[in-house]
Amino acid sequence: MANGGIAVVRTVADLRATVALWRDERQRIALVPTMGAIHRGHLALVAAARGDCGRVAASLFVNPTQFGPSEDFAAYPRDEAADLAQFAAAGVDLVFAPPVDAMYPPGFATSVTVGGIGDELEGGHRPGHFAGVATVVAKLLLQALPDAAYFGEKDYQQLLVVRRLVRDLDIPAQIVGVATVREPDGLALSSRNVYLAPDERRRAPLLHQVLQETAAALRRGADVAAATGRGRSRLAAGGFAVDYLVLRDAETLAPLDRLAAPGRLLAAARLGRTRLIDNVAVAP
Ligand code: PAF
Repeated sequence: MANGGIAVVRTVADLRATVALWRDERQRIALVPTMGAIHRGHLALVAAARGDCGRVAASLFVNPTQFGPSEDFAAYPRDEAADLAQFAAAGVDLVFAPPVDAMYPPGFATSVTVGGIGDELEGGHRPGHFAGVATVVAKLLLQALPDAAYFGEKDYQQLLVVRRLVRDLDIPAQIVGVATVREPDGLALSSRNVYLAPDERRRAPLLHQVLQETAAALRRGADVAAATGRGRSRLAAGGFAVDYLVLRDAETLAPLDRLAAPGRLLAAARLGRTRLIDNVAVAP
């Protein structure tokens, strides 16, 4: 079978029926939320989930509400058969792949907004994005009620938004962040890397290189404004249109004007029509 015979459910009732069986078996249950276009970054989430939990469900849903009107929802890479085969090979026990109208039936009217931490950076450049993410993640967590759910650190602000969401809404799932998986040249794996033209792909690793160089300068005591400014100039000289390159508190995302607390350097920049994001930890 092309998908390796993996179990696929498309309704919340069927998802809950399987999860209920796992609960009866007293299994610890993981959820790995994805939008498909599965790559090694997603497989690292599955591997972490399998390490912690007896049963792993993955969701596969390209969530329309987290894309802006001028973004790539229609063009987002979709290949369900290939995704299912990768999930099967990675040891996922169940895939939840609902159609859009099962997630957003006619009359759907609720939106979850995580203020503060979701307001700027990605939230500022992609208005409505985090409300779309928070709403669908809240739904997925309440639909599956897993013990733990796994998110990549590549989308670092998303990870913090989801942590805030589960705390604020008392959703009883542990949120686990998993380290970014990179190409050998440092480029963070992303489903959107397929959009890069060959020449852009050659230049793309500069984003991670600049983050690392800026982090090293900050650790040596460089001034934050000067170091991040130099990083932005290096990216612009490399052909990137920079949306932001900033140092933030690693837990609250509050601006840091000196490296006094664990920090996170976060960047977003466009190469042609592809928008790349990345981030690295910076310890004081
Ligand atoms: O990170 C993603 O792929 C998506 O934002 C998520 C968490 C699956 C919600 O649609």
